[in-house]
Amino acid sequence: MSAGSESTGFGETAITGIDGGHGVLTYRGYRIEDVVEHLGYESTVGLLLWGTRPGDSAAHDVAAELRSQRGLSPELARVLEVLPPDSPPVDGFRTLVSAMNDMARAVPPTVNEALELIARSPTIVARLHRRTVGGLPREPDPQLGHVANYLAMVQGTTPAAERVRALERYFVLLADHGISASTLALRVVLSTRSDLVSAVSAALGALKGPLHGGAPPEVLEMLDAVGSVDQVESWIDRTLDQRGRLYGFGHPTYRVEDPRATLLRRYAQEVAAPDRYNLARRFEEVALERLARRRPDQPLFTNVDFYGAVLLEGVGLPRELFTPTFALARTAGWSAHALEQVAQNRMVRPPERYVGPAPRPWGAKPTAPPRRRRV
Ligand code: ACO
Repeated sequence: MSAGSESTGFGETAITGIDGGHGVLTYRGYRIEDVVEHLGYESTVGLLLWGTRPGDSAAHDVAAELRSQRGLSPELARVLEVLPPDSPPVDGFRTLVSAMNDMARAVPPTVNEALELIARSPTIVARLHRRTVGGLPREPDPQLGHVANYLAMVQGTTPAAERVRALERYFVLLADHGISASTLALRVVLSTRSDLVSAVSAALGALKGPLHGGAPPEVLEMLDAVGSVDQVESWIDRTLDQRGRLYGFGHPTYRVEDPRATLLRRYAQEVAAPDRYNLARRFEEVALERLARRRPDQPLFTNVDFYGAVLLEGVGLPRELFTPTFALARTAGWSAHALEQVAQNRMVRPPERYVGPAPRPWGAKPTAPPRRRRV
């Protein structure tokens, strides 16, 4: 892989394949539809990190490795306690990742560090949440799998199997998506021979924006603002007339429907309240029709975050945890990309195009800045 600045080939990866024209997504060559049917989250971590599946001779016992590393050190727990209780959990998560001083900050990062990060992150997010709602922290439960344990730590009770299954599928589907904005941020940081916690902090900063992992809570805000099925058409028309964006639609890489959206539509229906699901369905129908009519040359489709948001609400997560939950799922992909980047590292420094004035004498009169072309 060419992973540096001199190469216009930056962006090559052997982890996730995306054929945006045909709606095909693969992890290590396996179609996402097969992965989500056959693997839970821990096995998906193994697939992304090593390309192995359970039963393969080289397969690791990822579930056991993650289970043994879920606890927070007393130092990290102290940092958590001094954060303002009303700070958004995604910001607290980013701060706590930065504060993982007790993790060896190896350069280049190791797979053990990556597993530690994946294992501990749900404990951090759940404790931030329990603190915000005034509940006692719930310790990790070694009897529960990675995703069930997260839900139990957030909700303070053992979750229903149906909810765990839905959230587990969400985690698998969101575990990686090529060199997305947040993964690019991570890889840029690592390319300078920085460490894993710095890179994941940068990735979290990129993820939280509403055009990326900040979209799912916006989807629910939007559905709440619409209110009822009979308001959908007028709300969407008004929003598009005002050049507003419909969250959960459009994607930089897909020119057909994102295969994860196809799956999540079905999985969301299994856990969502019927009224919520029906409103979402009607919203989607009208949104696709209006977007196609307004932009016939650039069709936009439902993306992963639309039904992802409906599913997360259906499993009982509060919306301030939507973005951190997306991030928890993505710690698997970030880890795989971190190891891929450092394996053949060259510093990332994309070529730029200078559009300012040509060299000129110091005494020259200032000129108006050129009109910037949208790129
Ligand atoms: N609703 C309305 N208009 C849209 C939408 C949308 N969801 N998406 C794109 N457009 C319009 C833009 O307004 C723009 O119009 P203009 O040319 O008249 O200015 C045009 O389409 C191109 O927009 P870009 O942002 O340049 O298109 P791109 O394909 O790069 O954008 C993006 C992808 C950022 C995801 C966009 O579709 C969007 O903002 N969607 C809503 C937010 C969202 O759901 N984000 C999550 C995406 S999944 C993930 O995590 C990456």
